[in-house]
Amino acid sequence: MPLTRRQMLTGASAVSAAAVAAGTFGIPHLHITAHAADDGFTELKIEKMPRLLMEGGKETELWLYNGMSPGPELRVKRHGEVKVRLINGLDEPTMLHWHGIRIDNAMDGSPLTQNPVPPGESFDYVFGAPDAGTYWYHPHLGSSRQVEHGLYGALIVEEEELLDDVEDITLVMDDWLINDDGTLNQEAFGDIRMAAHGGRLGNWFTVNGKSRPRIAAPAGKRLRLRLINCANARVMFPQLKGAVPVLVALDGQPIERPRELAGEQLALGPGGRADLIVRRGSDEITLAHVGRAEPLEVAYIERTGEPGEADTADIAPLPDNGLPKPVNLDGIKPVELVMEGGAMGGMQGAKLRGRDVGMRELVENGMAWAFNGVAGMTEEPLASYKLGDTAVIEFVNKTAWPHAMHLHGMHMWPVEVNGEPAQDPAWRDTLMLDPDQRIKVAFIADNPGKWMLHCHMLEHQEAGMMTWVDVET
Ligand code: C2O
Ligand code: CU
Repeated sequence: MPLTRRQMLTGASAVSAAAVAAGTFGIPHLHITAHAADDGFTELKIEKMPRLLMEGGKETELWLYNGMSPGPELRVKRHGEVKVRLINGLDEPTMLHWHGIRIDNAMDGSPLTQNPVPPGESFDYVFGAPDAGTYWYHPHLGSSRQVEHGLYGALIVEEEELLDDVEDITLVMDDWLINDDGTLNQEAFGDIRMAAHGGRLGNWFTVNGKSRPRIAAPAGKRLRLRLINCANARVMFPQLKGAVPVLVALDGQPIERPRELAGEQLALGPGGRADLIVRRGSDEITLAHVGRAEPLEVAYIERTGEPGEADTADIAPLPDNGLPKPVNLDGIKPVELVMEGGAMGGMQGAKLRGRDVGMRELVENGMAWAFNGVAGMTEEPLASYKLGDTAVIEFVNKTAWPHAMHLHGMHMWPVEVNGEPAQDPAWRDTLMLDPDQRIKVAFIADNPGKWMLHCHMLEHQEAGMMTWVDVET
């Protein structure tokens, strides 16, 4: 099915939490500090509900936080406290991960840090938000199925001082794999052939849960567009028509020198985020995903009112969150992470649960990829650091596919790409690697705990691309 067919998703409705204030542009916001239950917890309740994904199609069962996909946008001020009660209404266990937050390890919501939350039970997450920026939340168990069924939402950490005269617009991007009748494709879950290729690539593109939404925005204000790629596996190449955006943040963290994205094509791997500022003006803006074929228009921003005087003033960097930058890498031997496997990768076999096995046995066990010759999660971490150590990791992509490497709990500073100094480096928690690319990153291991490091193409993760690092206390 081509991605370009007309599409409509009407999933977002029936908001159950009374605490939800209608967001200006369709995603209801839960302002954590302002709207909470008696004990101060914001509830995220998962329910299975029939929804219409495609206009004219059949209803299909989605899994929703508070009856919506995306789930409610959670907002908190920098240094504020997030208190969320996850209530599991699925027939299977789940847990909630806070993607990109430099979080207290116990609250990270990964299988390294907590037990699964069984059906019918709940778990309380309480953590501080040290960095302003654009983050998101999603399950970290059976992620390929759970995220694809609609479980994800934005977590926005606001700057201490809100930006002047800037309208904030979150654009949660997803692609779903649906059948001709509009129902979610179930056969492809666990499909090893798909996992060994690009992962579960969808054929139904939504922004904020809708197909080609029209979003209203004032002409007389700058816009801050917060792009979040929540797709299982698709690398998004977002492009704006009708405006030249200025890139101000990647993966939540401000970049040092904002730059116009005139000729440069942004690539956002699954899990990645980009914040763009658009100047005042009355032209309609089209958000497109530039795939291999024609750009696919995925959302429209209609500007209303008067644009005011020509907007030519510089766009200032966002306030720095002050992440500790690794300075001296002399004498530090990088830890290599060699990525292997997948279709056309020529991998002969790998270690599986401590045993050397051939490709055939790997595939029978749902595995197609390996890190340093090991498929799936290891007992031992990739690396162990003392608190405050400078960590240096070199990713070596020996596969024929791009990957989006995600580290929990800390952000990575790219140092070298294919042996050359990295150009315009920016903090990343989700780092794209092209086939045959080698990227060396560094960071200060200043967050104690057990942190997952995996490909965020959820089918690749499930089929072997998963490890972890340990930061001792
Ligand atoms: Cu967004 Cu380990 O996940
Ligand atoms: Cu991958």
